[in-house]
Amino acid sequence: MISIRNLNLSFGSQTLFEDASLRVNQGDRFALVGPNGAGKSTLFRLILGEMEPDAGNVDMRHGLVVGYLPQENAPVTDRPVLQEALLGLDAEDGRTEAKAKAVLMGLGFKIADFTRPLKELSGGWAMRVAMARLLVEEPDLLLLDEPTNHLDLWSLLWFQEYLQRYPGAILVISHDRAFINAVCSTVVSVQDHTLKAYPGDYESFVAERAAEQSRLESAHRTQQGEIRAMKEFIDRNRARLSTAKRAQSMMKRLDKVERIELPPEARKMAIQLPQPPPCGKEAIFLTDIHKAYGKHVVYKSLSLAVPRGWKMALVGPNGAGKSTLLKIMAGVLPFEAGERKLGHNVVVGYHAQHRAETMDPERTVLEEASRSNRSHPDLLVRSVLGSFLFSGDSVFKKVKVLSGGEKSRLSLVKILLDPPNFLLLDEPTTHLDMSSVDALVAALERFEGTLAFISHDLHFINALAQQTIHVDHGRVTVYPGNFELFQWSQKQRVAAGSR
Ligand SMILES: Nc1ncnc2c1ncn2[C@@H]1O[C@H](COP(=O)(O)OP(=O)(O)OP(=O)(O)O)[C@@H](O)[C@H]1O
Ligand SMILES: [Mg+2]
Repeated sequence: MISIRNLNLSFGSQTLFEDASLRVNQGDRFALVGPNGAGKSTLFRLILGEMEPDAGNVDMRHGLVVGYLPQENAPVTDRPVLQEALLGLDAEDGRTEAKAKAVLMGLGFKIADFTRPLKELSGGWAMRVAMARLLVEEPDLLLLDEPTNHLDLWSLLWFQEYLQRYPGAILVISHDRAFINAVCSTVVSVQDHTLKAYPGDYESFVAERAAEQSRLESAHRTQQGEIRAMKEFIDRNRARLSTAKRAQSMMKRLDKVERIELPPEARKMAIQLPQPPPCGKEAIFLTDIHKAYGKHVVYKSLSLAVPRGWKMALVGPNGAGKSTLLKIMAGVLPFEAGERKLGHNVVVGYHAQHRAETMDPERTVLEEASRSNRSHPDLLVRSVLGSFLFSGDSVFKKVKVLSGGEKSRLSLVKILLDPPNFLLLDEPTTHLDMSSVDALVAALERFEGTLAFISHDLHFINALAQQTIHVDHGRVTVYPGNFELFQWSQKQRVAAGSR
């Protein structure tokens, strides 16, 4: 279907691809993986012809229909949801319309949503409409850029199953291993500026990579030993006139040795992050809160007191009201009755999923990071940026060219440089690769304020949560301990109940 040959592409001093090649055939299910900024989304743009490589080419079978879901910013129009999902397709055909409805419902829409104009929906839902449009059209090749970012667990499961039965080829960018294993049969890794295919699931890719890595390390060790020996030879022989020639030829040999380079290791956070201003003993009190969306009652009589310093994960089924609770605590969502009271000197900072849009596209990374209420020495700003993998020249990039993950990382850096003493985060790990998640965990572990967050990343939840707030059908229950402990106690309760 598609053959990519010897692709080369650089932006200034940053090389993305160097002789990268890949073939995609009918029926292939490829997961495209790699760290933030490796060039995954850019590869899609090259395939789509939205961009020209410096060298190499992308050949496509004649007449091939390619469907593309971008990583962010689906178009937001005045059209109603169903009409948008059928855009450019034969809407008169009853079967097509029935299919569109089924797909929309699979992706979490209700029948009442079909007639709602797209611009009433949040960004995440607009992405789902774009996704539905693609699945209805059913192109020969699907290019999906991190599609699961916008889905909740139920629609994710539906989507996975749908893709398993999808008749065309699929090339999907994802950081979600469970999804990759469910849908793909080959992992294509963007590494060392090339594309390398690993047949099998994500685990076998990781195992193969680890084996490659240890082979590389042992080759590196051997070479370092040889280099040391050559240097010693040169040192021993260069001073004496009789042996200087031999030393010189050894120097030439040493120069020619092609050095085996180890990939840079993810840097550990060793910097002192700014801490939030002090506050009273309690962070927030919610008393008898009543919250409804129209007729749909989410909370009837919600009361919750949060002491200073809690690090709590909000967990529970989708639509249970986790985001609603977070927004009520943040003070960004009105409610009908009850009281919300902050503790003494408490300042809340709320960060929703689509927060990257508040950054100025024309500023550089460094300028954007330095733009806060507190002024920090450049050195601190640079080192926090560095721990989130913006190093060297990359701090002079403009915000508008950043990859999805780079944008998320920058907005997290901004929070960490000027943290409020009550921090509320809704899905902070969206778009982040694994080493960035680790950097965020390390930073938040040392955060001395109060933290409440929603995440679907189990590793993240378990690393940070000291309290688990279970939200279910309007009931809010506090469990001390992390999510594993919470799950364990849930199982005990079920077991006790069935006895
Ligand atoms: N026009 C441009 N000028 C300079 N650099 C650019 C430009 N477009 C993209 N880049 C850089 O190229 C790199 C690759 O970007 P790309 O969006 O392909 O990454 P990605 O692999 O999709 O990452 P993510 O996982 O974060 O989505 C990034 O470091 C980005 O900053
Ligand atoms: Mg991307």
